[in-house]
Amino acid sequence: MTQTVAPHTPEVIGNDLVAEDWERLTFRVHRSAYRSEDVFRAERERIWMTSWLYLGHETEIPRPNDFKSRVVGGKPLIFVRDAQGQIRVWLNACPHRGTILCREPEGNNKHIQCFYHAWTFRTDGEIAAIPGEDAYDFSPGFRESVKLRAVPRVDTHEGFVFISFAPEGPSLLEHLGKAADIMTMATLQAPEGMTVLPGVQRYSVKGNWKLSVENAMDGYHFAPTHNTFVGYLRETGYAVTDDDQYAYDLGDGHGMLRLTGHGGRIGMIWEPRFGEAEKEHTEQVRAEMIARLGEERALQAADASRILYVFPNLMLFDLEALSIRQFEPVSAGVTDVRAWQYVPNGEPEETRQIRLRTMASFIGPGGLATPDDMEAYEAVQRGIEATKGDDRGFNDWSDMSRGMISEVRGEQGRSIDEGAMRSFWRAWSRAVGPVESDDRPGSTSTTGANR
Ligand code: FES
Ligand SMILES: [Fe+2]
Repeated sequence: MTQTVAPHTPEVIGNDLVAEDWERLTFRVHRSAYRSEDVFRAERERIWMTSWLYLGHETEIPRPNDFKSRVVGGKPLIFVRDAQGQIRVWLNACPHRGTILCREPEGNNKHIQCFYHAWTFRTDGEIAAIPGEDAYDFSPGFRESVKLRAVPRVDTHEGFVFISFAPEGPSLLEHLGKAADIMTMATLQAPEGMTVLPGVQRYSVKGNWKLSVENAMDGYHFAPTHNTFVGYLRETGYAVTDDDQYAYDLGDGHGMLRLTGHGGRIGMIWEPRFGEAEKEHTEQVRAEMIARLGEERALQAADASRILYVFPNLMLFDLEALSIRQFEPVSAGVTDVRAWQYVPNGEPEETRQIRLRTMASFIGPGGLATPDDMEAYEAVQRGIEATKGDDRGFNDWSDMSRGMISEVRGEQGRSIDEGAMRSFWRAWSRAVGPVESDDRPGSTSTTGANR
C-alpha cells in the first residue's frame, strides 16, 4: 500500500481479498476475486463441493421417468423421477467408462442407455442390460458396482431440490436457515400450490458469478441502470420510489431485498399495467389468502416483493411475478444462467398471460431489466482488467461501503445501500479462506495468461 492511504489496517475477513474497516467505514473487495482462476478453483473446492446447491424444482419432472440433464457445480447430472415416483440425482457419467449417458436436455424414458457400448440403466439406477453379458462374471457384487453413481446427498424444501457433493455436513434446513421461510412465503399465494412452467431461459454471461449476486442484491443501480424501465412504469401511471426498501442479512451468505416501493404483484398488488380486469382477481386472491393463512401471514407474503439470494447458486425473484434463477460458474469470467417461471396452479388463463408478458418485459433475457444487468456486469468484468497488477493504494479494489454509516447508527440497511453485498462477501471470504493467486497486489505474474 502506498501514500494514498494513511497507515491504518482494515480488518481482513477470511482471506485477504475482502477488507472491512469500521473505523473508516470502508468495505472493499480485491478485484482478483472476480478475475483469478486460482480463486475460481478454490471456490469450486471450498464452496461448490461442500455447500448445498440448487438443482431444480420437483414440478419440473412431474411424471415417472421424466428427466432433465443439467450441469451444477461443474458436474453433469441427471435429475430424474424414477418409475416409483422417487426423485433421484445421478452423475451423468456411464459406470462403464465414463461417457455422458444422457445427452438430451430433457425427456421421459424408462431406460437410460449409453450410446457408446449400449449399457442400459433403469431410472432408479439399476443396471437393466449389458450387451454380451455372458462375458462378465455377473455376481451381485458386480451388479452393485455398475449401478448409476448417485450424488451423495439430495434434499427438498417446498419442492426446491438441492444436492450436496459432500457426504457429510449441515442438513439442508440448517444450511437454508432464515432463507427457508422466505422460500415458503413464495409458495403461499396459491391454495393449490405452485409449479415451474416448462421452458427455460438459458444464457451465458461474460462475467464472474459473484457479479450476478452483487447485481441482484444492489438496489443502488436500479434507477440509473434501468432508467428505460423506470420511465415505462411512470408512463403507465405507477410511481417508483426507493422508500421502504430494505436489505436483510439472512446469515451464511443468504440475503434478501424486501421491496414495497415499486412494482405491483400479480394477484396480490394491482397496478395499472396489469389492466382493469385483473383488479377483481387480485381482490379474490387476497381474500382467499387471508381466509387460509390468517391476516398477518397472508399480508406478510402478499404485500412485499422480495429478491432472495440463497447461497451460493439460487435466486428467487418474487416481484411482479415469480422467477427462479440458477447460475453455474463456468470459469472466473463466464457464468451460465438458467431461469424458470414459477406460477400458481389453477390461476385464470388471462392472469397467466399477464404474468408471462409482465415477467418477460422485465426479468427475461429480452426484457427491460436483465439485458441492462448483463451489460453492467460484463462491463465490470472488462473494466477490472484496467487495474490488474496495480498495487497503488486501493486502485485494484472495488468499494462496497455504501450505508456503513447508517449501520453504525443501528438503522436497518436500505436496498440502495450495499449491506446485502457485504454480508455475501463476508460469508464468501470465510468459506473460501486464504488463496494462493498470481493475480494479487505486488504479484510478479500479471499476464492473465490463464484466463
Ligand atoms: S462407456 Fe457407457 S457403455 Fe461403455
Ligand atoms: Fe438490475
